[in-house]
Amino acid sequence: MRILVTGGLGFIGSQYIRLLLDEHPELEVVNLDAQTYAGNPENLAGYDTRATYRFARVDIRDRVQVRELVLEARPDRVVHFAAESHVDRSIEGPLLFAETNVMGTLNLLEASRELWPSVEDFRFLHVSTDEVYGSLGETGAFKETTPYDPSSPYSASKASSDHFVRAWHRTYGLPTLVTNCSNNYGPFQFPEKLIPLIVNNALNYRELPVYGDGRNIRDWLYVEDHARAIHEVLTRASVGETYNIGGDAERENIVVVETICDLLDELCGQSAGQPRRRELVRFVKDRPGHDRRYAMDTSKIRAELDWRPRFSFESGLRATIEWMLEHQEWLSNVLDGSYQEYYSRMYEER
Ligand code: NAD
Ligand code: DAU
Repeated sequence: MRILVTGGLGFIGSQYIRLLLDEHPELEVVNLDAQTYAGNPENLAGYDTRATYRFARVDIRDRVQVRELVLEARPDRVVHFAAESHVDRSIEGPLLFAETNVMGTLNLLEASRELWPSVEDFRFLHVSTDEVYGSLGETGAFKETTPYDPSSPYSASKASSDHFVRAWHRTYGLPTLVTNCSNNYGPFQFPEKLIPLIVNNALNYRELPVYGDGRNIRDWLYVEDHARAIHEVLTRASVGETYNIGGDAERENIVVVETICDLLDELCGQSAGQPRRRELVRFVKDRPGHDRRYAMDTSKIRAELDWRPRFSFESGLRATIEWMLEHQEWLSNVLDGSYQEYYSRMYEER
């Protein structure tokens, strides 16, 4: 079986490819990625020479190239991760999010529609987010049937692509699947996202920017658990289904930040003359349209596919921080000039 993974140089896509190559050596993997700022070949170091792996540098916004690759590679499965993924960047420049996340997905759907009648048992799995459901009050959790109500340009683009994927199933019969997952964290995450950003800043005794009052709640899932859930859905779910995936680990942002500080104080000790890392917290201007709370009802995937997370938030966070401490070279390579420029633009006057 051949699996076409899009966005396989990114945080979650590369974890999924490592899982495939480690645990399913019989599968062939084609990685389609444009290698944007978030697509890092080092995320697959040591895996990219495997005989069952092949990389194709293709931009999903390029309909001609996407079609050529899909028809040439003839995958049995497409697992679609490629996207612009950061909410703050979507607020700064929304059009790229529509081009990549909406039009890019449409290009893949169209190429798949041409291919699939000649491939036995074809599947197109669209990797999506809990943010499509909008924001929750103090209680309740998103179900697969919760109406869509996206707040940010990022989540609106993902909601739109989810709708297109389902429309290609209903209208053309394309065998699709959709997964909506909560916040991932773990090794190889780009340090624009909360957890790796705070770890990096706290390591270097820089300020820790917390948006608003810090009481927004996210549900956290260790990336390896997400990758395993996707593979269960890909190989066992019925065509046309949607699954919510989450870690059952709701935490206020300020609690996440303080837990990271305490873990770093424990693992690295304190440098002479430096404060306890918690004292580096700075409450900054809120994100516009900031969703207050996300929580996932994962009873469907638990009951139907017997999936559940292997990592608790505490064990996953410790593993993530230990990984970051052991991979300082990976970290310093991604903290290049363009990251510094991004950081100043986003945070200096916040
Ligand atoms: P990421 O930003 O780390 O990686 C995105 C990857 O897509 C990169 O390798 C990048 O090079 C590639 N890409 C971007 N634009 C492209 C284009 N035009 N053509 C081809 N490749 C392109 O993202 P991530 O955090 O790994 O997220 C992967 C997917 O999972 C996304 O679809 C995201 O919406 C979804 N998701 C993410 C989370 C999360 O917490 N990170 C949670 C739920 C769902
Ligand atoms: O919920 C799933 C989504 O999780 C994915 O679909 C997105 O791709 C992914 O980026 C993530 O979105 P969030 O906006 O929730 O993640 P982020 O890490 O940007 O922010 C997490 C929370 O932390 C959010 O409430 C905003 C807050 N935050 C974030 C940053 C970067 C801060 O307080 N300070 C920060 O510097």
